[in-house]
Amino acid sequence: MLIQAPRGTKDILGDDIQRLNDVENCIRNLCNDFGVSEIRTPVFEHTELFQRGVGETTDVVQKEMYTFVDKGERSLTLKPEGTAGVARAFIEHKLYAGVQPCKLFYITPAFRYERPQSGRYRQFHQFGVEVFGSASASCEVEVISLVYELFRRLNLKNIELHINSLGGNECRKKYNEILKNYIGDNLASLCPTCQERYEKNPLRVLDCKVNTCKEIIRNAPSTIESLDVECREHFEMLKTSLHNLGIPFVVDDKIVRGLDYYTRTVFEFISNDIGALGTICGGGRYDNLIEQYGGPKTPAVGFAIGIERLLLAMESQKVANIAKKNTQVFAGFVGEGGFLKSQSLVFELRKQGISAETDILSRSVKSQLKYADKMEAKFSFIIGDDDLEKGFVSVKNMETGEQSQVEIAALVNFFIQKEN
Ligand code: HAM
Repeated sequence: MLIQAPRGTKDILGDDIQRLNDVENCIRNLCNDFGVSEIRTPVFEHTELFQRGVGETTDVVQKEMYTFVDKGERSLTLKPEGTAGVARAFIEHKLYAGVQPCKLFYITPAFRYERPQSGRYRQFHQFGVEVFGSASASCEVEVISLVYELFRRLNLKNIELHINSLGGNECRKKYNEILKNYIGDNLASLCPTCQERYEKNPLRVLDCKVNTCKEIIRNAPSTIESLDVECREHFEMLKTSLHNLGIPFVVDDKIVRGLDYYTRTVFEFISNDIGALGTICGGGRYDNLIEQYGGPKTPAVGFAIGIERLLLAMESQKVANIAKKNTQVFAGFVGEGGFLKSQSLVFELRKQGISAETDILSRSVKSQLKYADKMEAKFSFIIGDDDLEKGFVSVKNMETGEQSQVEIAALVNFFIQKEN
């Protein structure tokens, strides 16, 4: 009998491998433009890593992991996702002691024992980014704008960004009680897994795929209503910044995500062109995970794109893609006006394929310039309210030390010309 590829896996060859390589090249150039470096972690990890990080009550851990005992009697698991391994590596290599924020990307196979269908496989591939060290909503904007820009470079259309906030630890506690009250008398009608989740982690009930459970939680209260002042402000800042960059989104309080580590922001990019499993990208903030794994308290934000789903969307839209090279600009700021301007300028530059960065750690001007130095930016400028009023900013050539006054409205062109 002929041996075939295992159920839920597939070979990639011919035109598909060409398209995959083009996409991977585009991803690598994009990550370069956004100042994100690559990391590769092992395909298998200690099972405990996923149990503790992804969460004991998630479908992924309860039903979908490829777990085996090796010849040394260790329980190991093929990675069902990329975040846990990168978080482990961040601690193991003490990356928290290096330049912050620490921005890492990966392209990796991942494994989940799920029922295969179009867009859902048992071995699939994820492109993910994890940014460690920033508690600011600018960090969400950093990763969301990267995804948005990837879709633009790939010429992909009709992909909607959905955002929600689950709140921090206290908001979550409050929400869990509200949700338990809401489920109330319907507890006995939940599936056995959700009856257990009701006690241990009620939020997980919202993510259940069983029809009776879906029906019960259909009109469940929104997590947004349980947000405290700080979480609410964080969410508002995110919305303001997305507007500032011209990235459209919808607030969707049905998004809770299938993994336990999220705090505050969660988001998904959803396509209507690839059938029922339309979520191409999922991500969010996870401020507790590093500490939970025994590292120092470190805020973090990340996402993962399912590469097969991305390719399906490209195929259905019949799009081609292009890759680009870069140079480096650091756009610092003082004050609120300067912040918004530098954020939008950086996004404009990146759209033009010019590698550009701003500060997302609320640093002083001095530290911003130190950071520009460390990242070896070719040009830097600090934009403030005075400059905005005058319409000019002083741009420094970091290699020669030369300063020139450039009209703010002409900045993007100025750097385009420097590139050519
Ligand atoms: P996730 O939502 O579980 O998040 O997966 C991210 C993406 O991987 C999904 O949106 C989908 O495109 C793809 N994907 C998931 N399962 C399958 C499958 N069985 N077959 C094909 N594609 C699939 C995570 O994995 C998180 N680690 C994302 C993250 C990173 N959050 C913070 N940082």
